[in-house]
This record gives sequence, structure tokens and C-alpha cells, in this order.
Amino acid sequence: MNDNRLIIISYRLPFSFKTENRVTSVKASAGGLVTAVKSLDLPPSAPKPVWVGCADFSQRVWEKHKHLVNDDFEYVPVFLDKTTNKGFYNGFANSVLWPLFHYFPAYIDYHDDYLTAYKAANQAVCDKVVELLQPDDLVWVHDYHFLPLPMLIRQSQPSATIGFFLHIPFPSYELLRLLPGKCRSYLLNGLLGANLVGFHTTDYRVHFLQSVRLSLGFSHRLGTIVTPQTKVQTGTFPIGINYSLFHDASADEEVVQERLDLKRSYPDKIIFSVDRLDYTKGVMQRLDALEVLLKQHPDWIEKLVFILVVVPSRDQIQTYWERKQMIEQAVGRINGQFGTLTWLPIVYRYSDVTFSQLVALYTACDIALITPVRDGMNLVAKEFVASRQDQQGVLILSELTGAANELGEALLVNPLDEYEVADRLLYALTMPPDEQRQRMITMQARISGYDVRQWANDFIDALLTTQQADQTGQAV
Ligand code: G6P
Repeated sequence: MNDNRLIIISYRLPFSFKTENRVTSVKASAGGLVTAVKSLDLPPSAPKPVWVGCADFSQRVWEKHKHLVNDDFEYVPVFLDKTTNKGFYNGFANSVLWPLFHYFPAYIDYHDDYLTAYKAANQAVCDKVVELLQPDDLVWVHDYHFLPLPMLIRQSQPSATIGFFLHIPFPSYELLRLLPGKCRSYLLNGLLGANLVGFHTTDYRVHFLQSVRLSLGFSHRLGTIVTPQTKVQTGTFPIGINYSLFHDASADEEVVQERLDLKRSYPDKIIFSVDRLDYTKGVMQRLDALEVLLKQHPDWIEKLVFILVVVPSRDQIQTYWERKQMIEQAVGRINGQFGTLTWLPIVYRYSDVTFSQLVALYTACDIALITPVRDGMNLVAKEFVASRQDQQGVLILSELTGAANELGEALLVNPLDEYEVADRLLYALTMPPDEQRQRMITMQARISGYDVRQWANDFIDALLTTQQADQTGQAV
């Protein structure tokens, strides 16, 4: 990495404001994207990076309290009006692109005014970036909220160096072609404004390259697309986690205490899962698998507990609040069916958990049951593995996650097959400690070797290479 200034763009800024009893404080956001970007290894001589994102607070709150946000980044919030933000975030981003890119076409709710809002929001963010941009800056755009942004910036600043990273899957062309042709070309052309487009897995990258060829007619050579105006390199960068943060935390005093409390409250086998509320996470199928297990193997009744944590998310969108109701009904049904007067199979929590609670749960459980029906990467699986200093615990992981490519020693399952998941649960419940250790050691070695810092640095180094190649006129 060199001394170029970095301009980062993501929908969310890594903080929001919270006012309680008339006192305003800053609340850090802790999502994978935010943690990843914050772990950049910048040389001390590098200028302060700038982070542009959409504000979930008013301009008045920002002016009054921005002094509270004081860290290694300079933050530039973009204030969208309510209607634009709703059509952009709830509408096009999360009711069109999210279900489409996660293979849920039936959940797509397409309206032209959503696309209009998406375009307006991208333009507003572009205007802000262009206002800030200086020669030699590196622009790094994140995620599906901003597919058109690279081209918008390029049109205004032809020599800018722009990287784009997609944090969710890129679907096969068969899915993408469900979008109206004009909209599809607009989105794909948008990405072709970048010098480098990065994906978690080679499959996603191949899907993108195929879509560009079939939709726009541009083929690629060894992953580089050359159009009359631009040269776009693509790459695979599987995102990692802050490995040592999770590994070391398992010995923190607070975590140790919370783990003891959990073990005391739940002396039997603990199965654990944590996800944002989302239909992509496969929570209903997971509950079905537990039901199958308890039906087929009633000897496990009163001998296990499933701690199911669902973190509130996007609950203004119908498919999300409906999912919450479905989950709660299923939890009630299963607890009613199998529970006794002194025991319930499922402990359900719909709330955020603190970092220490999360690590306590990762390290108290016997099985982490991570079974999304589609997930770009899934960092929960990696965090669970990193937390296990004791090298115990079994990971059951959906083969439909990006993480499955790197965690082959987990028990890989098809999340839609509740009989297979129930069977793997049974296997995990009785897996000998030696086998658990062997699997865990191998997974830990792999994910500690490519952590989030390495990921971020690799992406920026690859972006710099495209910039240098462009400056010297070489082919990349
Ligand atoms: C996914 C996306 C992120 C997003 C996060 C949380 O991981 O890739 O871009 O920030 O979900 O979703 P939210 O809608 O709350 O930002």
C-alpha cells in the first residue's frame, strides 16, 4: 500500500447517533463491511482516508454532534430526502437487487420509481465524491447499493482510480436476465466504470463476466474486460475477519463470566445460531431440521437446547417482518410440541447481542448451526471458528455460502434438506473431541492466514497495480 488518499463509499457509515435522556452518544456499527474497512493497514504517512456514506441522522444532528466522531477516518455523510432514501434502500436495493442476487426471484418487488430513487441516490453520492476527489486518490466503492457509481464517477473524472467490491453473491445470468434489459445494462455498465471489480468467490466473478458478455457483448481476456472506453480487471478476494480479535476475546474476563453463566443455565448440549433477520438465512429450514431431529430421536428431548438469536434488520420491508412472524410461530409450535414443564428446546432472542455475549455464545456452544440458503460469504462461521481457542465445537455450514469454499472441514449441508441437516446434527452431537479438534485446527490455520487486514490490503494493492499499469500504458 502506498500514500494515496483513500475514499471509501458504503451505504452505511460505521456509526450512528443515539440519544437517551437528552444525552447524545455515538454508537459504533459492527457489520462485516464496516469491520473490514476499518482494519486497513495504512502507512503512517498516508493522508486520512475519507468515508462517504448515507446518513441515518439529520444534518442538524450531524452539525451538532460530529465532534463526537473522532477516529482515523474523515466522515462525509450524504443526506438523502426521505422518499429517495426509502425508494433507494427499502426499494431498489433491498426489494429488487437483494432478492435477485440471492436467488429469491419470487420476492422481487420491482417498481420504476424504485429505480428512479436508486439512480438519484447514486447521483447524489457521486456529486459528493466528485467534489472531494483529488488527483491520485483511490476510490473504493462497496456493495450492491452502488452498482452504477463507478461509471458515474468515471464520466465526471475520466482518470480516477476506482475499485468496486461486491459483498453479496453475483447471480448467474439466468437470474440477472429477469431484470428489464435497460436496467440490466445500466447496472452492468455502471460497474464497468471501475478499474477493478472484486468478488468473494470465483463463481461470482465468472457469473459477472458471463453477464457482461451476454448482456453487453464485451468478452474478457483472463478476467480483464476491455471496452472502447475502459479496461476493467476482475478479481477474487474472499473477505476474512479480524481473527485475533475473536481468538483473543474468548479469554476476556467478561466473556469467561458470560460463558460460565450460559453453561450453568444450559448444562446440556448447546446448538447456536445468530443471523440478521433475513429470508436468505434459512432460519425456517433450520427449525424444520430441529423438529425432524427431535421427532426421529426423542432420546435427545431434554438433552439439548437450540439458542436462536435473530438480529433485527430491514423490518420496514414486508418480506422481513413477515419472516419474523413465521419464525416466531415456528418457535412457538416446536416448543409447544416438544417442551416439557421444565424444559424448552428453543431459546429465541430477537435482538442485538454485545460483542462479549456473542463470543460467550460462540465458545459455550457445542454446535454452530449456520445454514443460510444463500450467503455471499458468511462471517459468523469464520468468527465461530476463530473464537474456539479450545479447538472444540462443531461447525455445520451450508454449502450455499461463500465461506463453504474455505471451510471444507465443517459438516457441509444442503440447508433445504431438513433430513440431511438433522442427520448432521445427530453426528455433531456425538462427534468425538479428537475429531472436533482435527477439523477445528485445519479451519483455524486457513482463516487465520487470510484475515480481513490481508483482504483489504490485497484489494488495494491490486487496485494500485491497475493504476500503475494505466499510467505506464501497459496491459494489465
Ligand atoms: C449485508 C450487506 C451490507 C449491509 C449488511 C447489513 O452484509 O452486504 O452492505 O450493510 O448486510 O444490512 P443493512 O441493510 O442493515 O445495512
